[in-house]
Amino acid sequence: MKKIVIATKNNGKLREMTEAFAELPVEIVSLEDFGELPDAIEDGKTFAENAKIKAEFFSSKTGYACIADDSGLEVEALGGIPGVYSARFAGFHADDGTNNQKLIEELERIGVAESKADYRCALTFVDIDGTSLETEGVCYGTIKKIAKGQGGFGYDPYFYIDGNKTMAELTLEEKNKISHRGAALRRMVTLLKEYLS
Ligand code: IMP
Repeated sequence: MKKIVIATKNNGKLREMTEAFAELPVEIVSLEDFGELPDAIEDGKTFAENAKIKAEFFSSKTGYACIADDSGLEVEALGGIPGVYSARFAGFHADDGTNNQKLIEELERIGVAESKADYRCALTFVDIDGTSLETEGVCYGTIKKIAKGQGGFGYDPYFYIDGNKTMAELTLEEKNKISHRGAALRRMVTLLKEYLS
């Protein structure tokens, strides 16, 4: 059975992807199965470039086919930032708390109460012969300065999916149905089914 490495050190993402690929005739393994590996240098200008950089890097390090993702938030009133810098918006040692604080400060600095925004996720599969498959998913919403909900992660408590419900108020199952990552994963499953058949 074909082995595919999921190139993430995030257990939440690993679980989501393992579940999504469960229906495929493949063996899913995680980066942790390969011991200490260096980090890929994510210096792409787009989510798709970064996903490809990671998939190619970890495929060459492990010797197996690999799937990587890159995702983030784009806020219209801020010209699309934080974008590919979403994970480290507040700096090198940023976490969800400092990133969200920076987001609110930026909205305050330009004097807007809320802004249209989207989450984007790019997924890349790279096989050992270099074949690559790419998908993308997007989820539209609004960033407001009032946090609500305990679920999800990252910017979810500020990401309103309708007038007054945030992504952080959804169960994981509900989130997967509408999320950028859910959409990109479902498209990847379709492409992989065809590729592997
Ligand atoms: P990645 O792990 O390099 O793809 O970085 C993604 C970053 O974008 C995360 O650290 C979050 O800040 C943000 N992000 C991506 N997807 C989501 C989501 O579903 N909810 C909240 N924040 C997200």
